[in-house]
Amino acid sequence: MPATPRRPVIAGNWKMFKTQADTRSFFAAFLPLVAAADHCEIVIAPPFTALAAAVDAARGSRVAIAAQNLHWEPQGAFTGEIAAPMLVEAGCRAVLIGHSERRQFFGETDATVAQKLAAALAAGLQPIVCVGESLEAREQGRTDEILRSQFAGAFAALTAREFSPILLAYEPVWAIGTGRTATPQLAAEAHRFLRAQAESRFGREAAAALRILYGGSVKPGNISGLMAEEEIDGALVGGASLDPASFAAIVKYREG
Ligand code: 13P
Repeated sequence: MPATPRRPVIAGNWKMFKTQADTRSFFAAFLPLVAAADHCEIVIAPPFTALAAAVDAARGSRVAIAAQNLHWEPQGAFTGEIAAPMLVEAGCRAVLIGHSERRQFFGETDATVAQKLAAALAAGLQPIVCVGESLEAREQGRTDEILRSQFAGAFAALTAREFSPILLAYEPVWAIGTGRTATPQLAAEAHRFLRAQAESRFGREAAAALRILYGGSVKPGNISGLMAEEEIDGALVGGASLDPASFAAIVKYREG
């Protein structure tokens, strides 16, 4: 595969943590720590209620704000849901789609992932699509099968051009919030498999340009080992993105 330079992305997923006040304090502490870090893109996904505070606090910095979910319709009678154009208006540039917690607890399926992906692309939001196998699937040797079907389910309807802005996040469910990080080699192997899926579906060029982030217990202490793998183009960080010093240390993995 040709060595296309892929710009690293370090993304934080705050999940259901942080009020608006917490968000303002986070940015006040975090931005000075990463002011000189221009080797990667930085994304933070706060909860919906803190989006405006995050967009405001991140204005003028290199940090892009993402939402954690969206609905696939541009508007409608869908109580409790948020549409892509609303996220754009709020200042979001990206959106997480298909996080395993949404698949596990909120009925997200490959079909809804595909619908949400289409809505995000139509609104000009950069999708960060999450895939990953459960512990049971890994133990049964079904990891490739799961990743293949999640990949196909999410991207079947897209052209290579539509596929090009997408970030893929490989998050093995057994590594999320467990402290049990995938080894760099194991993560790289899954990324290679996903890149091969991209190549067979969208061609060599699209696959070589695809950025695949690893997520699951990424910490300041393991990020540099992960990023040393050519296949790993960044990280999607949960718990360790909540503290400004720890997330800054992850962003600055080259100095670690
Ligand atoms: P942790 O980093 O807390 O394991 O969470 C990973 C994750 O789910 C990011 O989306």
